[in-house]
Amino acid sequence: MMYEEQPCKNRSHLVRPSHSPLRQRLYRGVEGLLAPWRRVDDGPAAEALSPAALALFRRMSNADRAHSLRVYRWLLEHHYEQEDLLAAGLIHDCGKAAARLAVWQRTLKVLFRKLAPGWWRALSAPASSDHWRYPFYILAEHARIGAEWAEAAGCSELTCWLIAHHETDLPCHHPRYELLRALQNADASS
Ligand SMILES: [Fe+2]
Ligand SMILES: [Fe+2]
Repeated sequence: MMYEEQPCKNRSHLVRPSHSPLRQRLYRGVEGLLAPWRRVDDGPAAEALSPAALALFRRMSNADRAHSLRVYRWLLEHHYEQEDLLAAGLIHDCGKAAARLAVWQRTLKVLFRKLAPGWWRALSAPASSDHWRYPFYILAEHARIGAEWAEAAGCSELTCWLIAHHETDLPCHHPRYELLRALQNADASS
């Protein structure tokens, strides 16, 4: 489908992320280092998700579960109550469980995507699971992988779509733009 490029109007009500991606990655890096020693209360996820979707949530690392719960809280605090969106908030990063991801690899992704996209494309090209680049491949593909797992777990079409596109820029007149921006802003703020 083609979308006409035109300026976005009437979007001032959308809440913007409060931190830059690099600053946020730094914060999450410190969080990630401390995560193994922190207890994550999965209670809100257990209440909001089906058993199959909760199993996906629980496959994630401590750091990713804590991040996902912050995304979920951000959405609720900003009055987003759509169940499909809230479920996507809780499991949007579940595809990251396909590999063991170190903090430095996650940080490199944010830096390279912003500062050297060509290097990032080379680093994250398809790789087998025993290859040293495999974690970068999974980082690049986690949205697609997560959406496929969510579909297999019986999540709604909208939840799967939001997961698949959570790192994609859409034109503002796309019919699902506002829901996706809500997820992206929650993700960037959490
Ligand atoms: Fe993600
Ligand atoms: Fe995320």
